[in-house]
Amino acid sequence: MAAAGVSSTRTLRTLRTVRILLSPLRAPIPNRTGPLRLLSSLPPPGTWTSELSRLPHRDLHRLSVTDPDQFWGAAAADRLRWMKPFERVQDCDLNRGKINWFPGGRINVSVNCLDVHVETHPDRAALIWERDEPGTEVRVTYRELLEMTCRLANTLKAHGVQKGDRVAVYLPTSPLAVAAMLACARIGAVHTVVFAGFSAEALAGRIQDAECKVVLTCDETVRGGRSVPLKATVDAAVRSCPSVRHVLVSRRTDGGATAAAVGPLDVPLEEAMKAAAPVCPAEALDSEDPLFLLYTSGSTGRPKGLVHSQAGYLLYTSLTHQYVFDHRDGDVFGCVADIGWITGHSYVVYGPLCNGATTVLFESTPVYPNPGRYWEMVQRLRVSQFYGAPTALRLLLSYDDSWVKKYDRSSLRTLGSVGEPINHEAWHWFHDVVGEGRCPLVDTWWQTETGGICIAPRPAEEGAPVVPAMAMRPFFGIEPVLMGEQGQPLSGQSVDGALCLARPWPGMARSIFRDHQRFIETYFTPYPGCYFTGDGAWRSEDGFYQITGRMDDVINVSGHRLGTAEVEDALDEHPAVPESAVVGFPHPIKGEVPFAFVVLKDDLGSPPAVLRQLRELVATKIAKYAVPEHFLVVERLPKTRSGKIMRRVLRKVATEATGDLGDLSTLDDPSVVQEIIQAHRRYREQHRKS
Ligand code: WTA
Repeated sequence: MAAAGVSSTRTLRTLRTVRILLSPLRAPIPNRTGPLRLLSSLPPPGTWTSELSRLPHRDLHRLSVTDPDQFWGAAAADRLRWMKPFERVQDCDLNRGKINWFPGGRINVSVNCLDVHVETHPDRAALIWERDEPGTEVRVTYRELLEMTCRLANTLKAHGVQKGDRVAVYLPTSPLAVAAMLACARIGAVHTVVFAGFSAEALAGRIQDAECKVVLTCDETVRGGRSVPLKATVDAAVRSCPSVRHVLVSRRTDGGATAAAVGPLDVPLEEAMKAAAPVCPAEALDSEDPLFLLYTSGSTGRPKGLVHSQAGYLLYTSLTHQYVFDHRDGDVFGCVADIGWITGHSYVVYGPLCNGATTVLFESTPVYPNPGRYWEMVQRLRVSQFYGAPTALRLLLSYDDSWVKKYDRSSLRTLGSVGEPINHEAWHWFHDVVGEGRCPLVDTWWQTETGGICIAPRPAEEGAPVVPAMAMRPFFGIEPVLMGEQGQPLSGQSVDGALCLARPWPGMARSIFRDHQRFIETYFTPYPGCYFTGDGAWRSEDGFYQITGRMDDVINVSGHRLGTAEVEDALDEHPAVPESAVVGFPHPIKGEVPFAFVVLKDDLGSPPAVLRQLRELVATKIAKYAVPEHFLVVERLPKTRSGKIMRRVLRKVATEATGDLGDLSTLDDPSVVQEIIQAHRRYREQHRKS
């Protein structure tokens, strides 16, 4: 019996024993009857993880890449509840961008995140909504969240939403937003959450691309004590979105009367949910049916709608949540990301809920009402893991440490960082001051495309070295490869190159919505057979990885990903701007900010007035965080003979690193560079004076 096999492995520590542990599962996986046998012979859910977590990480990782079918097959069968067992573990071909995990299986994500926990701990808090107003948190139990999800799912159905339809969610991080995501999952609709800081135009672009049938929103949200009107933004957006049939409007505040549901498309959500049935049967979805679209910036063109699917994504987020953060039963998981980004999807919602955790929904800001907000929350909610972005840490460390120290942080066990490189100062402050030097700090590298964490210091053996500010080890199933300039894999240590992942893993995105060709070209064509991340990385003498930054025209502003091309597109819409070029510029708190080089037609208004309009334009076309911090008016831009703007040179000019400008021989007119350097000097001087 498998159960006996499992218990007999407790003291064994080698790869061979892992194989023995999994051996009853080896042969049957590829054929049709396999998974049935596999399921019936497995130990109870959870046992796989607890037993395997006793084994050395190195050996588990080796197994996950040498025998991925074995590894992922066992994990999927044991950790997830299936409505119909899968027939094969995977059917993937990265050359063609074909990614197919657990074919033949049927599953429902909301069942795995809710119903299975309602059976065992219905009254455990699934969510703690840490509202903007401190001390007013709201707890939602698994039982309550299931009922809320079902009522919302029935409401969606009543308003014509069917399996495969897209639903836009424009809401603050809140129980309703989580219920909206899970309600879509329950009926097989596809959610696309849009960060509630995006402008009406950015929201409209996403709704149009996804052809959403319904938009879910609320009157207004509150952040840092200030109200942000959401319904008004939705109203402006849906005017240009013919696919939208209904706007379901909830009430977040009592002061939102002006934004009440009054338009012809509007449906008051609370009333509709009250009238809906509290039970909703879960659709048996194919493993590869889409679960959600999430739009993210690339180096060219409009944001792309990455498609994530059901089973593989859920498995990968739950496994990473458990192993990277050392999740244990009863933990309160505090990921402070907004649900509008992938971190919110994977580590506020899906990973923690699949693992039956209590997950915190943070609606506020790190400095409201004061810079002690995070740590006061940690004390009040007894948070076990705190997962946040370096940009917030950099902001907080500029205040006195007493803002941290006056609160009890003894509940903390793991600290995590995500979204951008964490500098040494922030790492040490987080580790030494916040974590009192006793909590492991996991710097986690991943992307919207990867679905979950791919490189992190955990899991690791006891006593393994922790190197400050290094992402470190590949997660199970991840095989990093560094590529050289000629596209060749670089072997050995102490090398840096383009970071690729050489084999498929279950959490990876499946496509770009309605543009599979772009998906292939962006991720699988640059290094055939591998997934190209767009990042560069360094492999140390010890074989650990450190991310060196983006290799393309994507920048990272306060942990928010932004394509410089998007900002240029917005600027170029101004009639006085024939062309512009935007590059990333270092910023002590935000990490990077956009730096815009703009060419102005001189007969179309005074530069200060035009620059004011340009700031406004970017805020309305994209979002406030995308507005360039610097504008340099130039006569011309440096271009190659084939007409491509040489941004590499502009980056050097912006950072005053003009000592070595590199090869300029392909420039059409090299004198442009000196012109821009002079203009930049004048700009710096003015800046210093002001
Ligand atoms: C960057 C966020 C350094 C990287 C989860 C990546 C990081 C992009 C780290 C993805 C890290 C993320 N160290 N850089 N630990 N984590 N990045 O899609 O450039 O919003 O490609 O996903 O953020 O951003 P995205």
